[in-house]
Parts: sequence; structure tokens; C-alpha cells
Amino acid sequence: MMRKKGRVYIVGAGPGDPELISVKGLKALKRADCVLYDFLSSPLLLKHVKKSAKKICVGKSDRIHLKEQDEINRLLYNNSLKFKHVVRLKGGDPFIFSRGAEEARFLLESGVDIEVIPGITSAIAGPESFGIPLTVKDKVQSVAILTGRKRDPSADIDAPDCETLVYLMAVANIANVVKALVKSGRPASTPCAFMEKVTTPEARITKATIETIADEVKRRRIKSPAVLVVGEAVNYFRES
Ligand SMILES: C[S@@+](CC[C@H](N)C(=O)[O-])C[C@H]1O[C@@H](n2cnc3c(N)ncnc32)[C@H](O)[C@@H]1O
Repeated sequence: MMRKKGRVYIVGAGPGDPELISVKGLKALKRADCVLYDFLSSPLLLKHVKKSAKKICVGKSDRIHLKEQDEINRLLYNNSLKFKHVVRLKGGDPFIFSRGAEEARFLLESGVDIEVIPGITSAIAGPESFGIPLTVKDKVQSVAILTGRKRDPSADIDAPDCETLVYLMAVANIANVVKALVKSGRPASTPCAFMEKVTTPEARITKATIETIADEVKRRRIKSPAVLVVGEAVNYFRES
């Protein structure tokens, strides 16, 4: 007789510091019989996984894809047939600029039971870990999280009318992000900051303005993963 299908937990690992996973996410990880993880989830989290559990690196970063998405979906499905508790561990929050929603949909459509355990996204943890609030009562009242890179490289980058903009995946395409910010009518002196490897011991911040940020990326050799935040909130503490 075919074994009853297990449940797949789609877990947000948090932005880098392994202590930033949720209590619920950690419990799911400790109980897991099989874990599929990507590059952005802290390797230190894997020490919580049972020795007997199957660990599969499906390695996805901005540039390297060890496995294609179809194969990851297939692995999730096949392992849910074999194991009771399968964890899909994803960096940050599993649904923010991640294929977590596609994986969840594929599993649901395939009749697999899932549970989504949210994580702290780098979009929020990055600025906050450097003391940059994304909103400030009565002063900064809107925030948007955007991609700095689109599948079609000729597509325009979005720069909506919000007081704080947070871009993920913006390092390599910074020239086009700046173009979009200028086109949106923001002054060239608008503050912005790039934050690399947030909530890890190598975390680094570079503050600049819309006018100077592209040069700073070259000068400081800013590398992915990094979060870009744009808006007056960048200097909130300095100015208050
Ligand atoms: C494919 S997206 C995944 C985002 C992830 N789901 C999240 O919620 O943080 C990858 C991008 O997230 C950002 N990112 C993820 N982890 C980061 C970290 N520790 N430091 C800085 N940026 C990070 C970078 O912009 C990176 O290019």
C-alpha cells in the first residue's frame, strides 16, 4: 500500500543570523526527516537537523542555480511521498522575491499538504539592523519592496511613489535602478544605502545619494547579497 503523503513545511530561514529564524520554523527544522535548502539560508541552521535526516542543497543564489525549478518541485513532491516531515528552507521570507509561492502552489495542486512558516525578510532586517526605520510615525508613511533586476534585462525598473523604497537584487543593475529613481522625479540628493550580508558578521553599510550610489558600488566593491534602501528614512537617526 502507498504510504500516506507527508507534509511540506515552507520555512523562512531569516536573513542571515541563524538566531533570526522563528521558534516555529526551528521546531519544524528539528522535526524534519528531509530538508531542501538554498544558499541564502544560513548553513549554521543545518546543525539543528537530525543526523538521520536527508539534506538536499538545491543551491539557488542570484547567479548560480544548482537545480532548475522543475527539478526542485519534483524533489519536494517525491520526498513528500517518502517522508512525514519535509522542510523547504528558504532565505529570508519564503514568499518575498523567492519561488516559495510557486513551490507552494505546485505542491497544493499535486495534492500535498503544506504549511508556510514566514521568515524575517532581508528587506526589513537589512535596514533595521543598521538602525534605519522603513516607516516613521507621521513622517515616513509608505514603503515598497521591489526587485532591482527583472527577467527581461531591457524592462524598466519600478520606482513607485512611496517614501521608502527597498530594492533586492539591485547591485549588478544599479545603473538602471538609478535611472528609474531619477525618472520618478526624486532629487539627486535623496539619501540611499546599500547593506551587504545583513545580520552576519560581515555585514557592511554604504551610505550615499541617488547621484553617487552607482560610483560607490564600484569604489567599495559592493557585492550581492545586498539590500538597497532609498528615502529620507536612511538618515532618520542622524537628523533627529
Ligand atoms: C532571491 S532574493 C530572496 C529574498 C529573500 N526571500 C528575503 O526575504 O530576504 C535574494 C536577494 O535578497 C537580498 N538578500 C537576501 N539575504 C541577504 C542578506 N543576508 N544581506 C543582504 N541582502 C540579502 C539580496 O538583495 C539578494 O540579492
